[in-house]
Amino acid sequence: MDIRKLLEKMTFEEKTFQLIQLNSMFFKQIGASDATGPMEDLQLDNEGIKYVGTTLNSMGAARMKEIQDEYMQNHPNKIPMIFMQDVVHGYRTIYPIPLGLACSFDMELIKDCSAMAAKEASVDGVQLTFAPMVDLVRDARWGRVMESTGEDPYLNCLASKAQVEGYQGDGGKYTLAACVKHFAAYGAAEAGRDYNTVDMSERTLREYYLPAYKAAVDAGVESVMTAFNTVDGIPAVGNKWLVDTVLRKEWKYDGVVISDYNAFRELIVHGAAEDEKQAACMAMNASVDIEMMSATYPKYLKELLAEGKVTMEQIDTAVLRVLRLKEKLGLFDNPYADSNEEEAAKFILCDEHRALAAKAAEQSAVLLKNNGVLPFKKTIKKIAVIGPLGDTGEIIGFWQCGGEAKDSVSIATGLKRKLGESKVFVEMGCDVALNAKCDVKRIKAAKKLAKKCDAVVLCLGEHEHDSGEGNSKLHLDLPEVQYKLLQEVLSVNKNTAVLLFTGRPLTVKRLHEQAPAILNMWFPGTEGGTAAANLLFGDVCPSGKLTMTFPQYVGQCPIYYNAYNTGRPRYNEKERVGYCSSYIDGGNRPLYPFGYGLSYVDFEYSEPTLSATKMQRGERIIASVKVKNKGFYEAQETVQLYIRDLYGSTVRPVKELKGFKKISLLPNEEKVVAFDIDEESLAFYGSDLKRKAESGKFAVFIGASSDCQPFAEFELL
Ligand code: BGC
Ligand code: BGC
Repeated sequence: MDIRKLLEKMTFEEKTFQLIQLNSMFFKQIGASDATGPMEDLQLDNEGIKYVGTTLNSMGAARMKEIQDEYMQNHPNKIPMIFMQDVVHGYRTIYPIPLGLACSFDMELIKDCSAMAAKEASVDGVQLTFAPMVDLVRDARWGRVMESTGEDPYLNCLASKAQVEGYQGDGGKYTLAACVKHFAAYGAAEAGRDYNTVDMSERTLREYYLPAYKAAVDAGVESVMTAFNTVDGIPAVGNKWLVDTVLRKEWKYDGVVISDYNAFRELIVHGAAEDEKQAACMAMNASVDIEMMSATYPKYLKELLAEGKVTMEQIDTAVLRVLRLKEKLGLFDNPYADSNEEEAAKFILCDEHRALAAKAAEQSAVLLKNNGVLPFKKTIKKIAVIGPLGDTGEIIGFWQCGGEAKDSVSIATGLKRKLGESKVFVEMGCDVALNAKCDVKRIKAAKKLAKKCDAVVLCLGEHEHDSGEGNSKLHLDLPEVQYKLLQEVLSVNKNTAVLLFTGRPLTVKRLHEQAPAILNMWFPGTEGGTAAANLLFGDVCPSGKLTMTFPQYVGQCPIYYNAYNTGRPRYNEKERVGYCSSYIDGGNRPLYPFGYGLSYVDFEYSEPTLSATKMQRGERIIASVKVKNKGFYEAQETVQLYIRDLYGSTVRPVKELKGFKKISLLPNEEKVVAFDIDEESLAFYGSDLKRKAESGKFAVFIGASSDCQPFAEFELL
């Protein structure tokens, strides 16, 4: 296909329609009544729809084919549409939410999960996924933290790359084009309120927020989605500096840039554009190619061109990018791409995919507390599953794509499969809703059950749709009724472990003080129950490590481990002494720090040692530590390397993750774990905004979480 020749054949109108994306309900008259409203709203008629370049949410291979067929028949140049969808953590076989999966610290696993999602989605008619979401997050009030891989730029870069590689594979059969989002810094919404203002220094943006998008670009991501928020006063979708200067010119990205849903028109609401025409002008000049769910390009590009506010070259370049992506996806040769109903029936929810989802859920779970009740003994005769999340498939999380609760293994089902039906008893006790009332009868029934059983699995947490887009929260603790249930259960049975279900860090200080054990499952996905059963009985040792700090109090948000020291840090957590950077009604420490997560064994760490105490430019230093398994189970541990640059031309964080290794140790086994430290791992944006390592002293920490203390020092000459 000669794309340039094709472009020459297209009318101006056709070209501008290539640059818009509409929901698939606009096609084939599905939901015609729904569609009429938005169509009128967009001032589109059936004529215009004939040329729309891309669509989202096609709902299955059969429907995708129907839509594509009708569309191609009507299209003057037979240009196929691209079908896009949010395949965020699985398509039909759902694996843990990204914030959970990242806790596995296992990039191969992340890649495998993305590849599995691509396989299921591609045969069911999807060609591009709006993923990975790589927004760095520091504020648990923001509902969309569940989509992110957390607060650390180093880890986010690796996870970003792994996801892009997983989705896109070799670009051949069973792959999807990826779309990294939301460019940029959407995760820094003020006060954790979704869509709110983002404002930060260019240094902070470049140092912490931009690297994960860049990692996706470097990994060859096929598209980029702009964010809803402002960046330095200008909404991302109309921000020429952000999109044209940084993304295109600095990073040499020449692929498709798409707006987020209706974001063109939101330029007006933000107060950045007077009307749709100016919105189209801003976005075109920022070099945004596709507008999602609006039609300002078809409406206004002609006038803007006549007025000299945009050029034909800009428009043609945008259309060419869209056409090139269609060509790359092979759509000109085969407009259905991989979609195939028979294969969809074969791959979707197949045993292999379920097994991977189970493994992912096992590796994502984080043991937050254990006084010794876990793992449960297999000799248990009666086990109670209590709590609002114990006997439901609604544990797959927001952005569940095609995932359905009926396909997922509840905790009770997982336990029944492991222990046998007759040993597992269920009682909800209360509902999961934030405002759930305390029904004394239900609590009593739960208490009665707890009393007659040998062990209790108490499934607490938030509803799967209480995190995700638009779901910011003011309060991050569990509803009172869940504490009531906990107390009643504990009053009759101390052999109780809490399974926590959440899309974000919660301020569960009270739960930590009261519960004998807490295993955070996040939203574990389709095989959550299978994974939980394996973990609770020690067939798998928990090994997840938090990738986002759990605060003690909401008032601490935003809270993150790689913070600056300030000139007056709080040295004494127990007692506030003098004028220090803290609070009068509580300390600075989190409930659980970044990198934290327990196992069923203890690991003994030696102090870190260095191969040298001076480092010449261009040289490396090797930092190592011995790690020993002191317990009775084979177990995995993620050994973490942190560095602190002790002084710089701009202040440096108290710790920064610079490496990790996930190892497996048999009981009593000891391994030496070594890390290379080179100049690159010491580089940062100094006072001149250039990224380089500055001479001086560095402290090296190696341990089991960001809280690790012993360190060794070296000097970069
Ligand atoms: C979200 C995006 C998503 C898009 C399409 C928006 O509301 O912010 O993350 O990709 O919708 O579903
Ligand atoms: C305060 C200043 C004050 C100074 C001298 C400092 O601790 O921050 O506002 O002027 O002490 O009393």
